Amino acid sequence: MPICSAASIIVPMHDHDLPPPPLFSLTAARMALDTPWKALNEIERLLLLPLAWLRSQVAGVGWGVGWKFYGLPIIQKHRRSTMQLGARLELRSTARSNPLGAQHPVILSTRRAGARLVIGDDFGMTGGSIVVEQEVVIGQRVTVGANTVIADTDFHPLAPARRRAAPNDGATAAIHIGDDVFIGMNCLILKGVTIGAGSVIGAGSVVTRDVPPGVVAAGSPTKVLRQVIAG
Ligand SMILES: CC(C)(COP(=O)(O)OP(=O)(O)OC[C@H]1O[C@@H](n2cnc3c(N)ncnc32)[C@H](O)[C@@H]1OP(=O)(O)O)[C@@H](O)C(=O)NCCC(=O)NCCS
Repeated sequence: MPICSAASIIVPMHDHDLPPPPLFSLTAARMALDTPWKALNEIERLLLLPLAWLRSQVAGVGWGVGWKFYGLPIIQKHRRSTMQLGARLELRSTARSNPLGAQHPVILSTRRAGARLVIGDDFGMTGGSIVVEQEVVIGQRVTVGANTVIADTDFHPLAPARRRAAPNDGATAAIHIGDDVFIGMNCLILKGVTIGAGSVIGAGSVVTRDVPPGVVAAGSPTKVLRQVIAG
């Protein structure tokens, strides 16, 4: 799995995507010596586990299989919304847990009654925010790069008179992100967008229109560059 999201039991996976070594093994000890900050990140994660579990319960999302929180995310679930998070969720909320540096803890927020945030298994994210007033549905094995924002709302109306009258009544439209999508760092995924399965969104992109499956797309506004090459 990519560095953006993955870690092994004691230290993150090494370069070739091999399975993590057993906790008490020479390989694990070697990796801890080579990359001590990763070992410290794991120790901090384990020490924070009870608090992370508690905060998650209080937020109303329970605790899922294999969840890993590096630092504490900010989870704001409207009590009459849906926030469904899959197995092996990995959220990196501290600057030292990813060399790109989370600029703030991961924020997951459903702001209205009836809002739906549904995230599949093996989702990873560093810093950044997912803000939902209507619907954000994310598939399986999706990786979101550092400090990316996914928001299905404009927050505020565009016309000044309407903005004064109803400041929090911005336009909303559902966002759908397919399986195996990789979104680069510092992207903005805006309302109403569908990103097709297996696509890659380049760093710093502003995605305002749908992206088909299986392509590399980038820029502001995002344009398709080419097909993703298998293998
Ligand atoms: C999108 C990306 C994966 C494409 O890599 P690539 O296939 O090697 O692409 P190339 O570098 O060959 O660039 C191909 C073209 O796309 C453009 N391009 C690439 N990335 C771009 C980006 N993020 N924004 C705008 N244009 C981009 C290049 O300028 C080039 O245009 P040209 O053909 O007119 O010269 C890569 O550029 C990228 O953004 N990587 C960062 C991923 C990331 O954020 N990782 C952190 C995760 S925590």
